[in-house]
Amino acid sequence: MKPVSKPVRILHFSDIHVGALVRHMQWKKWFSKRAVGAINLLRGRASYFDEVEEKMAAMVRFKEENDIDVVINTGDYTALGLEHELRVARELVDPMMHPPQRYLTVPGNHDIYVHEGNSHYRFAEQFCSVLQNDLPEYCRGGHYPLVRLIGDDIAVVALNSAKPNPYPWRSDGHISTIQLEAFELLLQDVRIKERFIFVMTHYAPRLANGMPDKKLHGLHNADDFLRCCSPIKKGAILFGHIHRTYKVEVPEVDIPLYCAGSATMEGHEGAWVYEVEDGICHARALRWHEGAYHFV
Ligand SMILES: [Fe+2]
Ligand SMILES: [Fe+2]
Repeated sequence: MKPVSKPVRILHFSDIHVGALVRHMQWKKWFSKRAVGAINLLRGRASYFDEVEEKMAAMVRFKEENDIDVVINTGDYTALGLEHELRVARELVDPMMHPPQRYLTVPGNHDIYVHEGNSHYRFAEQFCSVLQNDLPEYCRGGHYPLVRLIGDDIAVVALNSAKPNPYPWRSDGHISTIQLEAFELLLQDVRIKERFIFVMTHYAPRLANGMPDKKLHGLHNADDFLRCCSPIKKGAILFGHIHRTYKVEVPEVDIPLYCAGSATMEGHEGAWVYEVEDGICHARALRWHEGAYHFV
């Protein structure tokens, strides 16, 4: 007897922003962009993320109680990209990282906050168990594009758009040309092209109103990225960075764009669950209420 199929359920959350206490910072690092970030933390930005541990415990419960098959996190695990913060963040999401083939992630700009040579390495060190690539021949520099084949009908393609920003007034991103070239090639691969394709990155290619983000906060080559996505007929583009949960459709592509927002920012908590069956995706937003995440 043929087994009864069920939709594949994918949980997408982002921007949890674990903030280490400033005392963990080495003093020499105050003479960097982190000094401004740390001062912002002290001035109160961090208080918006005070309940990150409680909220991640609730996210783990939600995942277990709602038959989630795949978890996607689109970055900004930390506030300042400190090793301590990354380690704490990884420990909080660790229960969702099993099996590792069913967890996908990219770094956010806060996870490689300043250029220290080893900032990408530090992220990869914490998340190495979930960075395996089902089509490694398309990987260009670091771990991306990272492809994961989910069953026979779904693929997830992760692109890295985060880069260190040397100046505190900048939080903009870029997907390297070599990643985009590899992405265009892999979309033609017979192992991919008939599947429902989720494309994930940290930066928002478009805001909730369909417009590009500001130059100092957005994805520089958002237009190139969307052009590369335009051959996809069944799929969705997933991202974070903007701390607001929204869906938008834009004329540049046939597939919808979903911003997870921040799962933990007080008053703005949100996330998405996508249910995919027979090439059709049904998206349901989550909100935080009375100590738990709920479907809206
Ligand atoms: Fe963020
Ligand atoms: Fe960000």
